Amino acid sequence: KAGWPGIIEAYADRVPVPAGAEVITLGEGNTPLMPAPHLSELTGSTVYLKVEGANPTGSFKDRGMTVAITHAKASGLQAVICASTGNTSASAAAYAARAGLTCAVLIPQGKIAMGKLAQAILHGARILQIDGNFDDCLELARKTAIDHPVTLVNSVNPVRLIGQKTAAWEICDVLGQAPDIHCLPVGNAGNITAYWAGYSEYAADGVVKNTPRMFGFQAAGAAPLVKGEPIAEPETIATAIRVGSPASWEGAVKAKNASGGLFEAVTDEKILAAYRLLASKEGVFVEPASATSVAGLLATAADGRLPKGSTVVCTVTGHGLKDPGTALEGNVEVEPLAVDPRAVAAALELT
Ligand code: F0G
Repeated sequence: KAGWPGIIEAYADRVPVPAGAEVITLGEGNTPLMPAPHLSELTGSTVYLKVEGANPTGSFKDRGMTVAITHAKASGLQAVICASTGNTSASAAAYAARAGLTCAVLIPQGKIAMGKLAQAILHGARILQIDGNFDDCLELARKTAIDHPVTLVNSVNPVRLIGQKTAAWEICDVLGQAPDIHCLPVGNAGNITAYWAGYSEYAADGVVKNTPRMFGFQAAGAAPLVKGEPIAEPETIATAIRVGSPASWEGAVKAKNASGGLFEAVTDEKILAAYRLLASKEGVFVEPASATSVAGLLATAADGRLPKGSTVVCTVTGHGLKDPGTALEGNVEVEPLAVDPRAVAAALELT
């Protein structure tokens, strides 16, 4: 077989699928763990980026979706459904297309990034916009899946999180141990739950000797875990994590407490600063929600909560091309300079 087989085959001993199931994969996983020299210097630590935008549909959701769609296909049901702030729907639509299943997605009207919508459209999903937020969409998707022959592929489907554990294992497999600290953006809280389960499993099995402290970061306008209560009207520029009532609340709290970690809110301003820094200094273009982990890292480094000399992994969860709108809005000089073909060198001040 040519190349990387996707996470189900790569971690076959740890990611079970039904006997005889056709594995539905797009080659997800095996994403770069990139040293981040600029962030390392700023923080006095050794910082790596787990670049999940390198997955087939451009986000970490593919790790869980290959497992969820493989199970859904094996079940014999013909349709899947999910609620989404955009990435889950893009991933579900792609894997469902691959499997020959119908995919329905419920999205909050006007609040998903353009690239994600484009993906769901091209993969042939049935897209329903709801005049409400992600939490409303998830409630509707759950109800629909209870009453009708359709598989729910949100992270409340437990097999999704089994697939997402593979990111923690890949990190340990590369580093030879777990990092000291792992930073994540937190929305519906499935990913932090899955990473912690993955690290804990590797430690329990003696593959590694340590587990990291889990640092979970939320946008200030959508920070229920920091506040300790659900938020009725979550708001942030990082639409991917515009979630007021995380489904995996308990899993996230367990990850934080059992690991000696923390939850922290970061402002949209700090998220956008980290977003620009990642692109301009590390060469890594992520979507705004993904920069939340880095904004949080910088905040904890600045106030001393990040011990100097730590080995840190920040997961950057989705690709920057998902959200061209935010990239172009006021962040850069949008208009490329019009120039005479003979005057290129002069315009660049190359003498
Ligand atoms: N980063 C990105 C780019 C996301 O799309 C999400 C979640 C998260 C972080 C947060 O992960 O929910 O496991 O805590 N997106 C979901 C979606 C809600 O519908 O695509 P989480």
